[in-house]
Amino acid sequence: MLGGAAAAAAANLVPAGAAHAQATAYQDGYNKLATEDSRHSIPFYGQHQAGIATPPQTAAAFLSFDVTAGNRRELTDLFRTLTERAAFLTKGGTPPPPGPGKPPEQRHLLGPTAPPDDLTVTVAVGASLFDGRYGLAPRKPAQLKTMRAFSHDDLDPKITHGDLLVQVCANHRDTVGNAMLDIVRQTSSGMRLRWRTDAFRFPPRPVGVPRDWMGFKDGVSNPDTTNASQMNQVVWVQPGRPEPAWTAGGTYQALRIIQMHLDTWDAVPVEQQERIFGRRKISGAPLYATDPNASDELDPIYTNDPQGRLTPLNCHIRLANPQTPQTAATSTILRRSFQYDQSPDAGGNPNMGHTFCCFQQQLNTYIAMQTRLEKEMLTRFITPIGGGYFFAVPGVRDAQDYYASGLLRGLS
Ligand code: HEM
Repeated sequence: MLGGAAAAAAANLVPAGAAHAQATAYQDGYNKLATEDSRHSIPFYGQHQAGIATPPQTAAAFLSFDVTAGNRRELTDLFRTLTERAAFLTKGGTPPPPGPGKPPEQRHLLGPTAPPDDLTVTVAVGASLFDGRYGLAPRKPAQLKTMRAFSHDDLDPKITHGDLLVQVCANHRDTVGNAMLDIVRQTSSGMRLRWRTDAFRFPPRPVGVPRDWMGFKDGVSNPDTTNASQMNQVVWVQPGRPEPAWTAGGTYQALRIIQMHLDTWDAVPVEQQERIFGRRKISGAPLYATDPNASDELDPIYTNDPQGRLTPLNCHIRLANPQTPQTAATSTILRRSFQYDQSPDAGGNPNMGHTFCCFQQQLNTYIAMQTRLEKEMLTRFITPIGGGYFFAVPGVRDAQDYYASGLLRGLS
């Protein structure tokens, strides 16, 4: 809470008290388990895409595509088809009645009973889409670039970058898998799946924010997604920014596939693990809280701890968000992360880790934060192995609109 909300407040984005109250309410909505009701659907049309401010569902797939469309017209067709499939699938895949002379809509793989299951499909473009192929370079989002390797990265080209990222999330894996099949099948003339990673979120153990593979509650501090003004300052690109006009309502997405070295981690005493993250393992409370029943809703506070005696200066949360005036502008992102298990790796060892995903108005915010984290104690226990930088396009407004229409319209 303090992380996102107070950093925003420190940057004069929202009144601190209001931020705290809203963030507390939001905790319940965003970081804890989303509804498991299969009949529930997330609206598809709107100013922003779903799957960003939407409370994270339990199952996800990140699909990276190489676009193969031969020219800009084919690229437009691709975005139109993708839009049509996403609109169809997210409302539950119930086919519309066949019109005169029109073949019946192909049924969703699960048949007429296909549930919406909170399915979201979120489309983002990579820097490579703006190369010479389609003449889009003048409209590239100002900060979009190909992810470079940070010093502790060991990026595998087989799971890195891509022209297009499609994030598919739902309450159950079958819904995600069937949506993926449908999208890949229906768009095969315009793009080819380059890589994919499946991810999930755990149930709360025992309550509250879900834990990651390292056993810590993960996703406690985050902006308040129900607070439109905070989202407009932290996540959504605003009109009038030094950005191409079409990007307004979109957001930069950073995806990092981070392998965890869990054998090494599990050998570390819990007190030391807590100093590495800067929070208590059982409760998720900040380190100044010694009561084992202390709440994770207590804000981390460093004003009385300039030397880092309680909360080490190089722990994860203090480097991510040092709460200093110098770092106020680069300390707030919206994290929407998952866990993965792709064991075994090539050496026959477990390959488990964090599918780190975040959204922010400026990609440079993420890059500044990650650069600070190069000095964190956690680096010994993790290796980023893939992912990429993307720009999640603005929402599809209505049935006439399509993904990235503003990017493609009116180009000479
Ligand atoms: C394996 C990788 C990672 C793990 C296991 C991890 C885990 C955690 C945990 C347990 C917390 C404390 C609880 C919470 O507030 O959610 C946390 C906080 C946070 N993490 Fe990570 N994280 C990872 C990677 C990253 C990366 C790559 C970034 C961004 C570059 C990041 C940014 C943050 C931020 C901004 C906070 C909140 C800081 C605050 O305001 O207190 N994390 N993370």
